[in-house]
Amino acid sequence: MKLNLGILGSGSGSNMQSIVEAIENGTLDAEIKIVLADVKDAYILERAKKHGIKCQYLDCAPWKTKLEGPAEDECIRILKDSGVDTVVLAGFMRIVKPKLLAAYPNRVLNIHPALLPAFPGVHSWTQALDYGCKVAGVTVHFVDAGTDSGPIIVQKAVKVEEDDTPETLHARIQVEEHKAFPEALGIIAAGNYKIEGRRVRIAR
Ligand code: GRF
Repeated sequence: MKLNLGILGSGSGSNMQSIVEAIENGTLDAEIKIVLADVKDAYILERAKKHGIKCQYLDCAPWKTKLEGPAEDECIRILKDSGVDTVVLAGFMRIVKPKLLAAYPNRVLNIHPALLPAFPGVHSWTQALDYGCKVAGVTVHFVDAGTDSGPIIVQKAVKVEEDDTPETLHARIQVEEHKAFPEALGIIAAGNYKIEGRRVRIAR
């Protein structure tokens, strides 16, 4: 079934761009109803405008790392008024709280640049490199009340090269991110999956 997406972001919006491209080239049955950014000059808003997608800044003060209180209420109101049925966290640098999750049960997806459950939190590619991992990667998962902890929909691995720096590794992870998010949303749109505990069982 066609997805009506609400995208929340804080930064460049390259993941949103990959979703836009998947919609535009017909590989993803979805429409982006609204893009919200908690950073006024986030490039994700520029990208949305370029594609004629409705977008706006969402003031999340006074908190810096979570979406709660009046901003959370406002966010839910905008998403509902926009007809959003699926919420996409595309580089949204805040923890979302139970109220938003209750408004969209099993309908909030996040992308994390690591093979979870390894390296939740920030700069996970640097953590992987510092740990000496030979493989890093990306995870798209449903969001639950924890941090980077919900049931996994798609993962893609990236080989760590001997001469990798955090920047080069992150760049190759991002290439996989841009495949993983449209793929995960395609699974949700197709609707042929079941969440059983931590497992997302996909009928191919
Ligand atoms: C990505 O690396 C994503 O995995 C992380 O934040 C970054 C967002 O990048 N959660 P962009 O704004 O989509 O370009």
